[in-house]
Amino acid sequence: MTVEVAVVPVAGLGTRLLPLTRSIPKELLPLGSKPVLQHVVEELTSVGIRQIILITGAGEDSIRQHFEVNPTLQRQLHNKGKARELAELQSLTSDVRIDFVNQPQQLGLGHAIWCARDAVAERPFLIALGDAMFGLNNSSVSQRLLRTFQTTEADVAIAFQQVPEQRVSRYGVAKPGTMNINSDGAFEVLDLIEKPAIEEAPSHYAIAARYVCRANIFERLADTKAGVGGEIQLTDAFCSLINTGGKVVGVPLADGEKRYDVGNFDSYFSAFAEIACSDPVHGNQLRHHLQSMLDAT
Ligand code: G1P
Repeated sequence: MTVEVAVVPVAGLGTRLLPLTRSIPKELLPLGSKPVLQHVVEELTSVGIRQIILITGAGEDSIRQHFEVNPTLQRQLHNKGKARELAELQSLTSDVRIDFVNQPQQLGLGHAIWCARDAVAERPFLIALGDAMFGLNNSSVSQRLLRTFQTTEADVAIAFQQVPEQRVSRYGVAKPGTMNINSDGAFEVLDLIEKPAIEEAPSHYAIAARYVCRANIFERLADTKAGVGGEIQLTDAFCSLINTGGKVVGVPLADGEKRYDVGNFDSYFSAFAEIACSDPVHGNQLRHHLQSMLDAT
């Protein structure tokens, strides 16, 4: 089953990043030389996604502008002989169609995905949270997730990262069943709890910002009531699928693979530093600068 459509929620208010996010949606914050959302769009197009549905809220205009063709800018780059920048700009959206769906109220991640039901229709789809990306090879997690979704004929495949015990309560956490059902180390998911207390967490496997679903998840979302934090949780819709005989599988991040997100200042600053240090053009100089700064302290 080929997956060609992705849903990317970008409607959050970014309240944990104020004042930075007063006028900039957090998904447009830079990680190195690109906004995190551009890294996500590049990841999705490189795994064969041809349509991206962005679920937007208040920051829609600036996000739209970032991905819109801008003839004036293109002409200027052409006239100034900036071929590399021009090619980069053109390639960003040449292979993919970007659509916008408004989420009128902030009722939670499950509700954001529910807003995409008409645009997705009956197709299987990838969900990528627009504030998170991966290190090493940015598209490798989505690639393994799609492969596992296809070969195990699951209803849902979810990416997981192992987190230290004291952080489990920030995430959706899995109760894993049979381990290693394929060579990607995938496992069956027997249960999920959104943001469990440490003593209730069934494992240290935390949901990591990428999912592939069949369209039957919309039936579950239709019946999902507000859960943790008073929000309609995507995790609860997966639980309801499991409880009615649906198959949910997990794909762990590989050794050395990291998830970077812009959810709060701690994670944002570390993500920026790491991504900027790995920039092929500017990374080297930054690493030297940081090293001499550290040496001087
Ligand atoms: C959301 C999901 C959670 C997941 C997390 C990171 O939480 O609800 O299950 O673990 O993203 O992918 P949020 O960070 O929006 O609170």
